[in-house]
Amino acid sequence: MTTSLAPGVPDLFSAAYYQNPYPTLAWLRDHSPVHEFLFPVGDVRTWMVTRYADVRAVLSDPRFSAETSTWANSEFKEAGLVSAAGTILERGLAVIDPPDHTRLRRLAMTAFTTRRVEQWRDTVRTTVDRVLDDCEQRGTFDVMDDYAGEISAGVLSAILGFRIERHRELVTALNEAFPSDPALMDRVPAAFGRICQYAAELVEEKRRHPADDLTSALIAAQAEENRLEVDELTGLVAAFIMGGSDTVRGFVGNAVHALLRHPEETTRLRAQPELAKSAVEELLRYEGALHTALFRVTTEPVDLAGVKIPAGAPVIAGLLSANRDPRRFTDPDRLHFTGESPRHVGFGHGLHNCIGAALARMEGEIAIPALLTRLPGLALAVPQDRLGYIESWAIRRLTALPVTTD
Ligand code: HEM
Repeated sequence: MTTSLAPGVPDLFSAAYYQNPYPTLAWLRDHSPVHEFLFPVGDVRTWMVTRYADVRAVLSDPRFSAETSTWANSEFKEAGLVSAAGTILERGLAVIDPPDHTRLRRLAMTAFTTRRVEQWRDTVRTTVDRVLDDCEQRGTFDVMDDYAGEISAGVLSAILGFRIERHRELVTALNEAFPSDPALMDRVPAAFGRICQYAAELVEEKRRHPADDLTSALIAAQAEENRLEVDELTGLVAAFIMGGSDTVRGFVGNAVHALLRHPEETTRLRAQPELAKSAVEELLRYEGALHTALFRVTTEPVDLAGVKIPAGAPVIAGLLSANRDPRRFTDPDRLHFTGESPRHVGFGHGLHNCIGAALARMEGEIAIPALLTRLPGLALAVPQDRLGYIESWAIRRLTALPVTTD
């Protein structure tokens, strides 16, 4: 299968691309920065944007709408690419425009305040310590499942107030909700259905038994402001489940992998723990957890960097690519802790930027240095060429990262 419209142009979102997308992304930035190609699901004509400045322009320009259910052309809709079509998440926070987005986001922010995030610091520390004890005892373990996965699931479960056993089933549903393989498209509606069903059960349970968690805080904010429909509240909880489940896991895994390949930076971080904050930003720049932002669609014909994009067309903002753009970052393929925090787009940009960023940063700042300090002998347990990435156009993460501690 090819996604390219012209001979000689590298394929996007092919099996080989997922394992190493960087040469393709570098080629696109240089030769076709606003690149028309066929999205593998439905062969829909799509534009991929790869330069830092253009990615930020797309994410902050209202002519690129997040509301695909309203603005996308029929080709896109018929291919089943409107996220969560037919469920309450079709009008979820990530896929609506102002004024609905403004109203919902403001309400979400009342529950996700800086003070509340700060209160979760102990939860993160305790979770990291517990998980590290277990990994240390094992000697050989998988950073993805046994470390990053356990931490992101443990923290999210504690914060939202759900039982950790159900987390794995949610991650499976999430992966099924954003497939890259057209053959798996028929699983999408059921996957979104399961996530919504789960969020609805959680809201119901917290209505009956409120506790000190984010879901209960959202219910209280809704009652106070009386501005949310019941479905909107459930959709918001579902958005947090979707936003926070696999991203932190992916990021911590990518960060540990990058550190294992840059021993001099690892030594520097061990010796100077005060670098943790800026190091996390550099790690997010070097290889964050998202390949791309969610689809945007043009509300009118748009001329972007000299390329004419018709109305209703899907556009993908390449976050991974923007963060490696040499037009913006010096020597971008190298991980380098300078003490400065790079202005990356790993958390997106504009109205839809990541609402969970403060929490994700805190998890990274605690979990990554803790692993290096507690386990000074940390090393890959398999040859580098045995590692592989999942085939997802949205999430960038390893399938597994086996390590040893001596
Ligand atoms: C390292 C971890 C994370 C990364 C790299 C990340 C990345 C992103 C990005 C790039 C966006 C913007 C997507 C777009 O513009 O289409 C986003 C939005 C969002 N994220 Fe995160 N995220 C992370 C962790 C979290 C966590 C922990 C939560 C919640 C607990 C969360 C919840 C959300 C939500 C609800 C949105 C939608 C915001 C809106 O549309 O207004 N994320 N995230």
